[in-house]
Amino acid sequence: MEIEIKTIIDRIEELYECGLQDDGSHTRMAFSQADQKGRDKFIGYFKELGIEPGVDEAGNIIARMEGEDSGLPAIAIGSHLDTVPDGGKYDGVLGCMAGLAICEAFIKNGVKPRHSIEVIVFTDEEGFRFGSGLFGSSAICGKDLGISESDPDIYGETRKAVMKPYGISLEKIYKAKRKADSLHCFLELHIEQGARLYKSQMPIGVVTSIAGVSRVEVQVAGEANHSGSTAMPDRRDALAAAADFIGKLPELVNQYGNEFTVATVGSIRVEPNSVNVIPGSCTFSLEIRDQDEQLIRLLEERSKSSIEETCGKNGCTCRFKNLSYHRPGPMTGWVAGGIERAVKRRGLPYLKMPSGAFHDSIVMAEVFPTGMIFVPSINGISHSRHEFTEAEDIKRGLNVLLEAVKEMDNINLS
Ligand code: GLV
Ligand code: MN
Ligand code: MN
Repeated sequence: MEIEIKTIIDRIEELYECGLQDDGSHTRMAFSQADQKGRDKFIGYFKELGIEPGVDEAGNIIARMEGEDSGLPAIAIGSHLDTVPDGGKYDGVLGCMAGLAICEAFIKNGVKPRHSIEVIVFTDEEGFRFGSGLFGSSAICGKDLGISESDPDIYGETRKAVMKPYGISLEKIYKAKRKADSLHCFLELHIEQGARLYKSQMPIGVVTSIAGVSRVEVQVAGEANHSGSTAMPDRRDALAAAADFIGKLPELVNQYGNEFTVATVGSIRVEPNSVNVIPGSCTFSLEIRDQDEQLIRLLEERSKSSIEETCGKNGCTCRFKNLSYHRPGPMTGWVAGGIERAVKRRGLPYLKMPSGAFHDSIVMAEVFPTGMIFVPSINGISHSRHEFTEAEDIKRGLNVLLEAVKEMDNINLS
């Protein structure tokens, strides 16, 4: 049984069209019309296969292909269709298309696995709209999302308003929770989004663990005043205070972190945002990621002290608001072991590696046996329109996934 690669590539291109914006960028933000269009297209592919997908209370699309023994827990495969602003073609989409391709391969070859297969498209993995992602996978795992329907998004719209067309209400979301024994395992095929595979010319990565992520919103308050007539020593410039800290962030990571530690200020807002007014307030995001939870907490602490210090120097004050926290997620040993056997059977070299990017698998691994397969990203670029993965690498990844599904299908858990 081989996977038909041309169809997959064509569908990845079709999905990309669903994110096309008027300004030429490609964004499929969660809970947007573009996202809905992409989801409808994906559902359509399953309908062509004779499978009618359902949508759960968290908006997750779930397509189920019955196996020989429908009493057995299902093998789940999935990822997300939402993208970051001006994102790429493959992040998330590949994992969803991979699930579809696996079902198609079984159906077209007239072969039924013992376990049913469920393909899951998780809602709002990226989370840039509200500052916290992994929405659908967290709901399936019954995790407290720590969110409210009145949360504003980056445009000031509430969660309640944007979730309505998806039929989601936080009151009912608990119904999306799945029992731990309802899934045999969860598998996610994803592009690496870094350059380790690309640089080492390895076609496959077997993921060992996913970095934890802490996201905090920092609000710096200063004083808005005239930019021409306020002498430098008299200023309480909120942006100068924030910038002071941002400049120090790489040093902090160097001092306390390791090769996997990263920290990013990726979004910043200044009020009143005028060329002739000293910024009275500055709000920015601070994201810290590492494989070690203790280290994340230490860096959070050191960053907060450093922000307090730079605010003090600039006559400003600051407040912190936790946006989200996900602890590092080790993949399940027996699933990763099964994936390794699958890669070896395909005769491919591979790297065992941690993931710096997060994925729905980080949450799924807390409840369900979970494993991830990576394929290379050219030049390690992702979260960008320049994201690219060669068709040959996609093909290798899909065939490894197919082998891994067969491997999982043969494992009996008592
Ligand atoms: C998701 O792709 C993330 O790592 O932010
Ligand atoms: Mn992704
Ligand atoms: Mn992403």
